Formats: sequence, structure tokens, C-alpha cells
Amino acid sequence: MRKQIAAANWKMNLTLQEAEILIDELMDITHDLKENQKAVFAVPFPFLISVKNKIVDKKNFFVAGQNCYDKKAGAYTGEVSAEMLKSIVVDYVILGHSERREYFNESHPMLAAKINICLENGLKPIFCCGESLAIREAETQNSYVETQLKESLFHLSAEQLTGFVIAYEPIWAIGTGKTASNEQAQEMHAHIRNVMTNQYGAVVSESISILYGGSVKANNAKDIFGQPDVDGGLVGGASLVAAEFAAILNSLK
Ligand code: 13P
Repeated sequence: MRKQIAAANWKMNLTLQEAEILIDELMDITHDLKENQKAVFAVPFPFLISVKNKIVDKKNFFVAGQNCYDKKAGAYTGEVSAEMLKSIVVDYVILGHSERREYFNESHPMLAAKINICLENGLKPIFCCGESLAIREAETQNSYVETQLKESLFHLSAEQLTGFVIAYEPIWAIGTGKTASNEQAQEMHAHIRNVMTNQYGAVVSESISILYGGSVKANNAKDIFGQPDVDGGLVGGASLVAAEFAAILNSLK
């Protein structure tokens, strides 16, 4: 069975003190996960070591960076490298989140380079894709997402994509309280898997975990995660509330 993953994306929220309270509370109310399940915490860079230390004893709990730079090292003031993340035993890195594409002009080639440097350092990318409301209304979301996948992932080998993680996050559902319907999510996830099957074959595409992101909450997670091609979620707002995220973890297949 594909890995089922609930990933918390804290974005740029909380102080260290608040983060420690949240993670302590969450550790108190969560159990070890099943073999096929994972919890991932994409927390701000300054909190990574502290959060990692607090989750280290829980089975299948991991930390993630929310980004990293596409260069190895050097005079890039303010940036964080893949090698730095590896050195503090980070497991995953979110790449291509729509907020980074929009506010920081992250392009397809830049994301391809970031994926490469993460893989070279043994970090697992969580590659985000997803369309805006205007694209959804024009009904061109399938080709739009296909281009995102092609431009940033298709240079990879079948081996590199085996067990890869993709997050589909429709921009119109992020932070809006408006989720894609179960049918809309399933339809796009099946499309993404189909795009990967056409390029890499079914063995690879069936190994890829495709997470849904966009207003996932405790009260809708079970239905969304229950769709056949949805392998968990990338969760923003609800991941900042311990009881909400614990319930979302309990909703994994
Ligand atoms: P919300 O869950 O707050 O809609 O955010 C989704 C998201 O962007 C996760 O990366």
C-alpha cells in the first residue's frame, strides 16, 4: 500500500514557545502510526531542531523544511541549503508551494533545481502543484497541473520518482475554508497519477503518494482521504490546533 501521509504546514506562524506548547500537546494525544502511515511537520526553520527532538521517539513522525535554496552553498544571504537541512536530520522539504510560486517568483526550472539538490542530499521533496480559481473556472486545470509536473519532475528517473510525494493544492481552496469536493479531489489526483503513469509506467505511479491540500479540517479529512487516489493531506490552518491535527492523523487510511 502507498504511504499515507498527513503533513502539517505551519507556514510563518508561532513563536518557538508557542510551537513547543503545540507539539507537546500533540505528542500527548497522538499514538504511534501504522506501518504505512506518516506524520510530517513542516515547521519554520528556527524550530526544526526543537520539534525534531520532541517527535523523535514517535514511530513514523518526521520533520520537513518549508523550502530550501537551489544552490549548494555560498554568498546567498538569508537562504538555507539542502545540505544544512540534511545536517540537522530533516527528512522532507516542501517545494513549489503556491505561496512561494506567487510571492517569491519560483519558476519551473528553479523548482527542478531545488528538487535535484534535495535528492542529492537524501531529502524527500513534497512537490506542490495546483491551479488558481481563474484556471479552474476556465476548466484548464488538468493541462495546467500537467505542465507543472512535466516542467519540474520529468527530468527525474523512474527510480527517483518511486515513492515520491506530490501535493495537489488548488489555490482557491487554500486558507479559504472552501475545500475541493471529494469528486474534484479524486478527479485531479487520478489525473496526476495518470500523467505519471503515461511517462513512467504504473509501477512508479502507483508508488507515488498524492496528498490533497486546501482547507483540510478534522471534520472533512476522513471523506477526502477516503478517495482512492488521495493518500493523505497537506494541512495549513488546522495543523496549528493540536486536537484538529490529531484527528486528521486519525483519518489516514
Ligand atoms: P489551509 O489548510 O490553511 O487551507 O492551507 C493549505 C496549505 O497551503 C498547506 O500547504
